[in-house]
Amino acid sequence: MIDLQGVSKLFGPKRAVDRLDLHVRQGELFAFLGPNGAGKTTTIKMVCGLLAPTAGTVTVGGHPATSREARQLLAYVPDQPYLYEKLTGREFLRFVVEMYGIEPRAAAVRTAELVETFELGDFIDELCESYSQGMKQRVVFAAALVHDPRVLVVDEPLVGLDPRSARIVKDMFVSQARSGVAVLMSTHLLAIAEELADTVGIIDHGRMLTRGTIADLRERLQSNGPLEDLFLSLTGGAQGSTDGRLPHPAVGPPGEAAGLSASPQPDGGRVS
Ligand SMILES: Nc1ncnc2c1ncn2[C@@H]1O[C@H](COP(=O)(O)OP(=O)(O)OP(=O)(O)O)[C@@H](O)[C@H]1O
Ligand SMILES: [Mg+2]
Repeated sequence: MIDLQGVSKLFGPKRAVDRLDLHVRQGELFAFLGPNGAGKTTTIKMVCGLLAPTAGTVTVGGHPATSREARQLLAYVPDQPYLYEKLTGREFLRFVVEMYGIEPRAAAVRTAELVETFELGDFIDELCESYSQGMKQRVVFAAALVHDPRVLVVDEPLVGLDPRSARIVKDMFVSQARSGVAVLMSTHLLAIAEELADTVGIIDHGRMLTRGTIADLRERLQSNGPLEDLFLSLTGGAQGSTDGRLPHPAVGPPGEAAGLSASPQPDGGRVS
């Protein structure tokens, strides 16, 4: 459903994404991991048609990511959810319903379901400006699902959610994937990736270092340890990090020695 081939994105001289290939199938829950500045949000924005790639192709359901067809298939929850402060949550949901041209009766049923799923009933008729961050996020999730998307793209979904809300959102990801939706989620929460994802992709300096199931990654790195160790061994960087990335030293064998497809220190186009 989501298909990136040879995608690069430059911001001036900065190569944020570097010849990236990424595929997420129907029903697959794909967790995108990587240190700060690795290129996750940039990639996600290209999938959602909000940024144009400098090179390569991005398609959603076989349509160019910027096309109307792709947008109809897709729901996007950004890392910083935005709501209109002077609308109530219910008015915001209605606005989204109208934007997608959903028939009113179907929209009413769908909205009621989502209010229940995300437990919005206590505050949905109050102004969005009065919401806490977690309340806002729950409304944004409900709005994302209003049109029954076939592709769900979520950037850092669980920041600011209390354990109960996080549980609701995690269950929703799994149920969406089980119903055939392609889910692409970026997260820094390795435990979430480990708990939910069918496939994990680790990106650094705009390049995919490795992808596979957690079991695949463990086998390749010959490690039974926590996902955090795998992540750090791939992205910690033998030379250390000085550019805002995770400050931990490398642990375990370097990726290349473990048979991975790309070096953990790609120099292609890296601008420092
Ligand atoms: N609009 C922009 N202009 C210039 N550089 C940008 C822009 N957006 C992103 N970048 C750069 O591209 C690189 C990738 O940024 P991106 O936001 O995709 O990282 P990320 O993996 O989402 O990081 P984080 O985990 O911190 O959210 C960074 O070096 C960032 O500074
Ligand atoms: Mg980001």
